[in-house]
Amino acid sequence: MDYTYLLVKAALDARKNAYAPYSKFKVGASIITSDNRIYPGFNIECASYSPSNCAERTALFRAVYEGHREFKAIAVVGGNENENETLSDYCPPCGVCRQTLREFCNPESFKVILAKNAENINDCKIFTLERLLPLSFGPQNLG
Ligand code: THU
Repeated sequence: MDYTYLLVKAALDARKNAYAPYSKFKVGASIITSDNRIYPGFNIECASYSPSNCAERTALFRAVYEGHREFKAIAVVGGNENENETLSDYCPPCGVCRQTLREFCNPESFKVILAKNAENINDCKIFTLERLLPLSFGPQNLG
């Protein structure tokens, strides 16, 4: 089975538990490893705002902690806490998350899947990381 649906579903499920009392903007993400394991994550905010962690990095760091270093794709869903299974808009990853993904993911093949719901999987927008972070600086640049 194509992993897109599973990833979007996992991201939507994760989003339910997001800790976003300040922005009230809940985000869910789920990343799939090269050996097909799925790690979900959500955003976790702090009263002092700047230490807040995005859903994408929560998912990625969970997987990295478990020993994974190669990834195929990430799905991201986000919206106001009042929105549930169908979100009004896509939630593209912030610049910090794009750069963090770049650390572990091949920009030419890694896919970023943006979704609003799991029912209409054809509504997803899919980008390579290269497209979202062109001319990127990564581990290879350090020789
Ligand atoms: N956020 C994410 O978790 N991922 C994104 O792609 C965009 C923004 C979070 C950060 C913050 O907790 C809230 O959404 C509002 O910016």
